[in-house]
Amino acid sequence: MRTLIQTVLRREEPLDEIQVAGWVRTRRDSKEFSFLELNDGSCLQNVQIIADATLSTYDQVQKLSTGASAAVTGKLVPSQGRNQKWEILATEVRLLGECPDDYPLQKKGHSREFLRGIAHLRPRTNLFGAVFRVRSRLAYAVHQFFQDLHFVYIHTPIVTASDCEGAGEMFRVTTLDPHSDKPQKDENDFFGRPTYLTVSGQLEGETFASALSNIYTFGPTFRAENSNTSRHASEFWMIEPEMAFCDLQGDMQLAEEMVRYLVEDCLSHCEDDLKFFNRFVDKGLLDRLRNVVGNPFTRLPYTEAVEILEKAKAKTKFEYPVEYGLNLQSEHERYLTETHFKTPVTVCDYPKEIKPFYMRRNDDGKTVAAMDLLVPGIGELVGGSQREERLAVLEGTMKEHDLSMEDYWWYRDLRKFGSVPHAGFGLGFERLIMFVTGVSNIRDVIPYPRTPGSADF
Ligand code: 4AD
Ligand code: MG
Repeated sequence: MRTLIQTVLRREEPLDEIQVAGWVRTRRDSKEFSFLELNDGSCLQNVQIIADATLSTYDQVQKLSTGASAAVTGKLVPSQGRNQKWEILATEVRLLGECPDDYPLQKKGHSREFLRGIAHLRPRTNLFGAVFRVRSRLAYAVHQFFQDLHFVYIHTPIVTASDCEGAGEMFRVTTLDPHSDKPQKDENDFFGRPTYLTVSGQLEGETFASALSNIYTFGPTFRAENSNTSRHASEFWMIEPEMAFCDLQGDMQLAEEMVRYLVEDCLSHCEDDLKFFNRFVDKGLLDRLRNVVGNPFTRLPYTEAVEILEKAKAKTKFEYPVEYGLNLQSEHERYLTETHFKTPVTVCDYPKEIKPFYMRRNDDGKTVAAMDLLVPGIGELVGGSQREERLAVLEGTMKEHDLSMEDYWWYRDLRKFGSVPHAGFGLGFERLIMFVTGVSNIRDVIPYPRTPGSADF
């Protein structure tokens, strides 16, 4: 029975016989021994194997170049070296798969761009191994956070007929032939109507919150938005809680608690990987994460955020204009959270003109009960709101947004039959991983990133 290297390295006691398997990172030969560094991806560390030249399979050891795979049986003994607690004195080494010289990960220190071109091999590097272990842990922690609070996990559809965000950034799902000469009628399409990949599970999430009280979704979402930035992907994962009998205050509180919980969970369960990021990716990472866990977040209305930014214009050069009524750009969000407050910041009560139709109109008639949670290094991590639960007000806003009353008949029904105040938000999973790892490009925290002009593998 094979043992994972992370389990081997955590052992308290030596062992007479143990089996490991993995990919060779390096091999050094002396006259009497070969030293192998073996990694199986279960943790950052390699285990050192010492293979004696008298082994019957020593000819196989000699073929173990960087990248080759091997299974090793041996004795676990305290290591002579200073870098590791244990090493394995091999009694048997089996070469499983050779690795010829054209293996692209021979040398260390490849650029991220180069590694994106070999996305099928990059998980074998220290950096990407660590990123995807953290990604897995965070996904687990998301479920733990909500399940502990008795939220119900809902699988909202991926193929949908409605545009939640109303931004028209949807990928069409169709079986109609794009090369056909004949006119293509929507009625003849697979579903008998136009359908799309979802941009958000929120609207369907609201229907379930209006029955099960507290729900969350966690799944892939898609945006055909042509923004080629380091924080936008065309396919990304979003976590969307929705709470009945909840207002904007409760919504902001949940978002802040969730971010704190997830960071804390990673600090305590991914220590080695985070230390690695702190050393090689982003020197200020651990301080920043501890600051998030240990200190209160800042909350302020959009109007005050704009005032702060207008004052800042004297000293800071912004590329985009700042003015009441305009969207905050990433540079503005980062100024607020990184420079001005030096904490995560929740901005609320945005002008109604720059937010989607479903957000609850505030009593001032000008703003909506929206909130965005901004974090250092990223900007917007969470976007959410209290939802408009008053049928007449909702229908008024839908008219303003030119939305079809018929298409949203089921959404309006929620306001007709036992409507309740409710609120929710969406947290971009990849942005969370970027925040926790310090990795600055979203393409490097998704196994196979999809961005405008690029869908390799
Ligand atoms: O602010 P957004 O567009 O909000 C919604 O979709 C709401 N329906 C959520 C809700 O209230 N249930 O997106 C939510 C979050 C953003 O804050 C951001 O973190 C992430 O999703 N996000 C993206 N992440 C990566 N690539 C993109 N193109 C993203 N667009 C949004
Ligand atoms: Mg948003």
